Amino acid sequence: MCGIFGYVTSRDEELGPILIEAAKRLTYRGYDSVGAATISGAKIDLRKDVGKVEEVAAKYNFAEMHGQRGIVQLRWATFGEPSQVNAQPHIDSDGDLVGAHNGNVVNNAELREQFIAEGLTVRSQNDGETCVHAVERYLNRGYEFIDAIRLAYGDLEGDYAFVIGRVNDDKLYAFKKGSGMVVGIGEGFTCVSSDLPSILPLTREVIRPQDGEIVTLWADRVEVRSVKDGKLIDRKPETVTETMDAVQKGGYPHFMLKEIHEQSQAARELLHVLNGNREVETLVEKMKNARNLYFIGCGTSYHAALAGAVYFAGLAGRAVIPILAPQFIAQYAPTVNHDDVGIFVSQSGETKDVLNALEAAEARGMECFGLANVVGSTLTKAASFCLPLCCGYEISVPATKTFTNQVVTFLYLAYKMAGKDVRALDVIPELMDKTLEMVEPQVQAIVEDINQWNDLYCLGYGATYPIALEGALKLKEVTYAHCEGMLSTEFKHGPLSAVSKGFPILFVSDGSATPLIISGINEVKVRGARTIVIAEDDPRLRANADDLIVLPKSDPQIAALLGVLPLQLLSYHMSVLRGYDPDFPRNLSKTLTVD
Ligand code: AGP
Repeated sequence: MCGIFGYVTSRDEELGPILIEAAKRLTYRGYDSVGAATISGAKIDLRKDVGKVEEVAAKYNFAEMHGQRGIVQLRWATFGEPSQVNAQPHIDSDGDLVGAHNGNVVNNAELREQFIAEGLTVRSQNDGETCVHAVERYLNRGYEFIDAIRLAYGDLEGDYAFVIGRVNDDKLYAFKKGSGMVVGIGEGFTCVSSDLPSILPLTREVIRPQDGEIVTLWADRVEVRSVKDGKLIDRKPETVTETMDAVQKGGYPHFMLKEIHEQSQAARELLHVLNGNREVETLVEKMKNARNLYFIGCGTSYHAALAGAVYFAGLAGRAVIPILAPQFIAQYAPTVNHDDVGIFVSQSGETKDVLNALEAAEARGMECFGLANVVGSTLTKAASFCLPLCCGYEISVPATKTFTNQVVTFLYLAYKMAGKDVRALDVIPELMDKTLEMVEPQVQAIVEDINQWNDLYCLGYGATYPIALEGALKLKEVTYAHCEGMLSTEFKHGPLSAVSKGFPILFVSDGSATPLIISGINEVKVRGARTIVIAEDDPRLRANADDLIVLPKSDPQIAALLGVLPLQLLSYHMSVLRGYDPDFPRNLSKTLTVD
């Protein structure tokens, strides 16, 4: 997700310790590289590398850095692998400007080509550098700084926040589009950051700039202007009263809940990045021409692979074999060859089971691609290329936002395979927000009753089958209850015998097989089960189910995706009711690097 922090003071002073401290307070956002720059008169001091804040700061002696302005950045790789050259901040061609961003500039590749053609010196693949050159190109054409920024803002597509300064000046400039950014005003200094935790130890007086606004920071004041017309905007500072812990969790009591609520923004950023990613077309061509196509993962990532297979069949008429990574080795690896294509799905990119499967596939010549959240992870290096999931750091052990972005990626790829217009998917982020708003009270209404049980089932059909599996996994992970996910039609083949009075059975329906879901409901209801259905409003479901958790209207593929949100919330609230910490369930770890 990256984190930026900029600081302006009135005279040359030791900024290193301030920058190190600010960086440490942004580490919760996740990062692979660290960089700091200070500006003192005509000199920019830039130090950066891959590694932890403490390591990089010690190796390059950040503590001695001084100046009148400083920028520090933590990088979570999306464009370009984690490396010293890709680490931020970045300078412009002549070394007069220095800037850093967080977020994703989705037309990065296109802009880089333009800058190279214009004769600018492009040193890295990173889109933070692109932001710097985007301003530089207009300064070169003779524009005033503020106007150069206004024009750059128009060129930079995506979701990001950016801070930039230049030599022989006394200001920093910052602007944002889609991402968060906060400005702090203190005694004799101002600062700007991706998030409050790096600002609060310095000051509680803040301004929250909006998209389409440019902030100019002097040591003793800030100015907010509109990108559109350059006119001043009157924005009064506010005083922050929350504690640091609450601020780091975005005001939520747990990271899991925060990450559940971050899903819409993560999906929005992902869709922007996919639209701008040229590797998507390459991947689609490879998949179209493949003899056999495998989607491979473990746990939650396997559920996303399964959802992907349903989408590919239903939308593009393309058969996919979704398979758990270790089972791939036994069941398919001996049969694959260079005509086959595999997509390896992993949040961490470090799951040993997945890497073993990749090794077995590559040994047979299969073309291996990945979907990963952690760019720079082993998977991203081992695969031909990986599409980034663009979720930023997922702290909570139960995967939430990375699951939905894996599913959105597969849905996007299925649309591409089918030649359908992917703009139809732009409704997803808003529908996710609407879903969370609608289902929260509905989940709250049933959670205490459901929580009485230590055995549950979660059933789905077609595209909601993987959603049911994922819902059951979430419930298991954070409530320690036994919850089984299953194809709804399979229930009568054995588990039906477990049903007793009040036994809770959750159904997820995308509306494509409602009569089948209704017969499943009645099959268990007549035996005493309590049936809870997650679906769009439907009188037939209302008439048959005990409880209906209503989703907003959408098409079936999107409805399936939305269906996981109430299951995440139910799991979270049950976990809290039981007195557990949903972020760190017992016996589990976020990354499984063992066989
Ligand atoms: C998900 O909530 C779990 N923490 C777990 O099933 C996870 O999805 C699995 O271990 C695979 O991890 P990966 O996506 O990092 O490869």
